[in-house]
Amino acid sequence: MSFGADQLILKKPPASSGKYYPPQSNKFEYVSVMHEVSEEYMRRLSDSMKALRIFLMQGDVQKAKEAGEQVVERVKGTEAICSKCHTDKTVVDRIHGKDHEQALASIQRLLKEPQPNKDAIFRAMSVIGQSCNRCHNLHLVPAMVQEAFRK
Ligand code: HEC
Ligand code: HEC
Repeated sequence: MSFGADQLILKKPPASSGKYYPPQSNKFEYVSVMHEVSEEYMRRLSDSMKALRIFLMQGDVQKAKEAGEQVVERVKGTEAICSKCHTDKTVVDRIHGKDHEQALASIQRLLKEPQPNKDAIFRAMSVIGQSCNRCHNLHLVPAMVQEAFRK
């Protein structure tokens, strides 16, 4: 069984406003965002990205293809959770927009070639990496700050 988006479970439903307000509070909680995204899923995601990089460097095409499939599947898993809190697609598109989609599609396409062009794959991976950073900066960093100052 694959470790998919269905395992990134939200503990509470988002408010219909498209923002996430916990019950008993009218201030939004960044901290909640941090707990909704599983650390384990994130670790697997970054492990498969590292594996893809290593196998491409080593020229192990078969293993690179397998790692690449996992990368694509796991990145798509992160896309699936946005809509649990955001109803506004333009907000989501600021992270998972055209560049992100094209990068993911090109990783898939490039890995189908008999001798994948690793430089092109690395370029696409760095576009994906920017999406990771954006999501972390928008959700994870404020969550950590909020948690640190709460106590
Ligand atoms: C939904 C927005 C979101 C996206 C997109 C996202 N992350 Fe994360 N990431 C998080 C959150 C939230 C945490 C904190 C999870 C926790 O500690 O419970 C996290 C934590 C992590 C961690 C630390 C896990 C640990 O060991 O503590 C790594 C590594 C990571 N992300 C890698 C990635 C990579 C690589 C990508 C892009 C392919 C990515 N993330 C995309 C939200 C995101
Ligand atoms: C658990 C709820 C939750 C999830 C899941 C989530 N977000 Fe957010 N997001 C928030 C909250 C809360 C804020 C900060 C409040 C706001 O501005 O709406 C925010 C802010 C943002 C912002 C900045 C909005 C602005 O107006 O500045 C963007 C862009 C964004 N999220 C994109 C995403 C994307 C893309 C994903 C999926 C990879 C995602 N979010 C997943 C709750 C979530």
